[in-house]
Amino acid sequence: MGLIISHSPQETFALGMRLAATLRGGEVLGLTGDLGSGKTHLVKGLAAGLGHTGQVTSPTFTLVHEYAGGRLPLHHFDLYRLEDPSELLQIGLDDYLASRGVLALEWAEKFRDLLPRTTLWLTLAHGPDDTRSIQGLPESL
Ligand SMILES: Nc1ncnc2c1ncn2[C@@H]1O[C@H](COP(=O)(O)OP(=O)(O)O)[C@@H](O)[C@H]1O
Ligand SMILES: [Mg+2]
Repeated sequence: MGLIISHSPQETFALGMRLAATLRGGEVLGLTGDLGSGKTHLVKGLAAGLGHTGQVTSPTFTLVHEYAGGRLPLHHFDLYRLEDPSELLQIGLDDYLASRGVLALEWAEKFRDLLPRTTLWLTLAHGPDDTRSIQGLPESL
């Protein structure tokens, strides 16, 4: 799992699109990194790559946004404001995990114990200017 440097929001989006092409359904993507490190941009690319045409906004106030109608359903979580693990179970995490959709969870590290061992962890970090590093993407990307 190499470290990829993105030089622009567009490049991060394009990486999300390329990652989407590798997904078969049932994957759990754990996105970790500070505010502004590009997690939502990566998910925007994922959604576009899966064929979801609607606008992807940060689901900060809704916990989970669901995108249907693409090649695979995408369930986009933002766990920034969530504190209690039981709330995540209450909104049906286990049902999402059992589905054939793709789960992309921002701030997933807060609830690591609730996520499968097969979770693909992607770590984003700020670099100088508009660069962002992304750790954990498949080498072949
Ligand atoms: N290389 C880059 N990749 C992604 N976003 C970038 C990059 N360079 C600058 N940005 C900016 O950083 C911010 C990233 O926001 P967002 O994707 O919502 O991050 P997060 O979801 O991690 O808080 C946006 O304002 C975007 O324009
Ligand atoms: Mg975000």
